Amino acid sequence: MATVARFPMDRAGWIEVGTINAIPRRGSRIVRTPRGDVALFRTEDDRVFAIDDTCPHRQGPLSQGIVAGDTVICPLHSWTISLSTGEAQGADKGCVRTHAVQVLDGLVFLSFAHIARQAV
Ligand code: FES
Repeated sequence: MATVARFPMDRAGWIEVGTINAIPRRGSRIVRTPRGDVALFRTEDDRVFAIDDTCPHRQGPLSQGIVAGDTVICPLHSWTISLSTGEAQGADKGCVRTHAVQVLDGLVFLSFAHIARQAV
């Protein structure tokens, strides 16, 4: 089960959204943003990715999926989504929005400016 964090409003380009240890390995954490929920995923080797929590197939909650390598398997119909590009893998077609994320000294930062640029 993904944990949920509130998106702190900040004018700086990068904003802190918690610690890497708050994201379980091979799991996720949701950040509520002005543009919708972003799912932070942590891989087995501690890489962190941020993508919208919406499957490109039928809007399944990707944060509830299974992390395998640098992909997540959607819990609804098992599409495999790349965490780095957001693209559906194999024969499936579709793409979920990705977000810039970085980890510094164990803290996870999202680029709010990046999210704002992707306005609807
Ligand atoms: S909603 Fe994700 S595979 Fe169908």
